[in-house]
Order: sequence, then structure tokens, then C-alpha cells
Amino acid sequence: MKRPLLLAHRGFSGRYPENSPLAFRMAVEQTEADGFESDVHITKDGQLVIFHDASVERTSNGTGWIRDLTYDELYALDIGAWKDPAFAGEHIWTFDQLLDFCQQTGMLLNMELKNYEVFYDGLEQRVIDAICARQMQDRVFVSSFNHISMQRFKTLCPDIETGLLYDKPLLDIEHYIARSNADNMHPRYVLLRYQPELVELYHSRGMKVNTWTVNDEPDMLDMLARGVDCIISNYPDLLCRVVREAQT
Ligand code: G3P
Ligand code: MG
Repeated sequence: MKRPLLLAHRGFSGRYPENSPLAFRMAVEQTEADGFESDVHITKDGQLVIFHDASVERTSNGTGWIRDLTYDELYALDIGAWKDPAFAGEHIWTFDQLLDFCQQTGMLLNMELKNYEVFYDGLEQRVIDAICARQMQDRVFVSSFNHISMQRFKTLCPDIETGLLYDKPLLDIEHYIARSNADNMHPRYVLLRYQPELVELYHSRGMKVNTWTVNDEPDMLDMLARGVDCIISNYPDLLCRVVREAQT
């Protein structure tokens, strides 16, 4: 059986503060993950930053929306201590810093464009420019719950793979994927149990099946058996061990 790509969701976020430099470093140092999944927003002053939520309350010591905060204001926040006081002193990374880290370490990157709650003007082109400036088109693939954004992205840059994230069953899926022009599908893993035929359907259309967020061993084994192309987990250490043992 083909080994799927194994990605650390928001870095090694099961154990370290999500999307922090520490979580990315520990995914490299402590696991055999092939790469990361991460999330990008635009600040008030136009910087691309790595963060999950559209506002900072849950995972920092600050308040407010990323779109209303400058990069300097965001950098001043602690994004580690909320997880555990031992992780105090972590600071937000820019998208450029994450790309540089991927280049240095050889990690792949699934970059999720967080433009379905806040609609950031020009996010697609900014992401494309940063990837192309480093000639990382074959190391980075993008995804979003905003499928219009993915359609736009593909038109702007056919060289970078796009993916449709979804967490609810979709109607008329064959028609939908044909219209979308997307390269890949990114279903929440339970949806592949609800509609097991989808893996074969997507593959027959030349699309990869990149599933998330798979944190328990039985679910990892189930997704492996279904022949998905990529598994994304908060626990990349467990994921890599489970897949390695299942394939030896
Ligand atoms: O890309 C997979 C997953 O990250 C999508 O949802 O909310 O965890 O960013 P979320
Ligand atoms: Mg994400």
C-alpha cells in the first residue's frame, strides 16, 4: 500500500502551541512528518501571518481581530503561554518565515487560506507571490473552505495545487468538482466513512484526497486503509508510528 503524506496540523499542535515556531520546530525534531498544515491571514498593515483563528483571544494574551491589528501589535503577543506557561515567549511568524523554515528543513506545506470568515482582499495573489519568489510551487499546496477563492487561485497560478476543504456532505459532487477546477479534495475524515465511494470518485478525476484532522490510532488506520493521499494530524508522532508499523 502506498504511504500517504503525513502532515503536522498547525505544527505539532497536539503537544505544543498551535502555529507557533516551537510547534513547527518540534514537528521536525520529534517526528517523521513530511510537512505541515498551517493557516494564513493578513494584518491591518498588510503582512501575511501564521495563525488559526481570525481573532487572537483563544491562542494569545491579546484581544481583537487580525485584520484590525498591525504586525507589530501581533508580534508583541505571547502565543505560547495559553497552552502551558512553559511555552511562554512564542511569537507569531509571518508567512515568509514559515516558507523560509520549510525551505531550510525540506518540509512540505499545505497552506490554508483563512478567507471565509474575513474576506481578505488579494490574499490569493499575495500567497502566490511569496511561494513563487522562492520557487516553491512544488513544495506548497493550498486549500480553503472558500471554494471561490480556490477557483480564483487556480486561475491566477495554475502551477500551485489547490484543494477544496469541506466538513459537511456536499450535493451533486461530480458537477461541483468539475466546475471548481481544483486539483485536490480536503474532506474532514468522517465524511469518507459517510460516503466511502468518494475516494475512488476523486481519484478517478485525478484528484488527491487529503484528509484531516485525524488524531486517534483507529481513525488513522481506517484512513490508511481507504487509500487517502495525505493524513493531517495534531499528533504527527503517533501518526508516523502508526503508519510505519502498519506498512512493515
Ligand atoms: O486544513 C485542515 C484543517 O486545518 C481545516 O480546518 O479549522 O483546523 O483550520 P481548521
Ligand atoms: Mg487549517
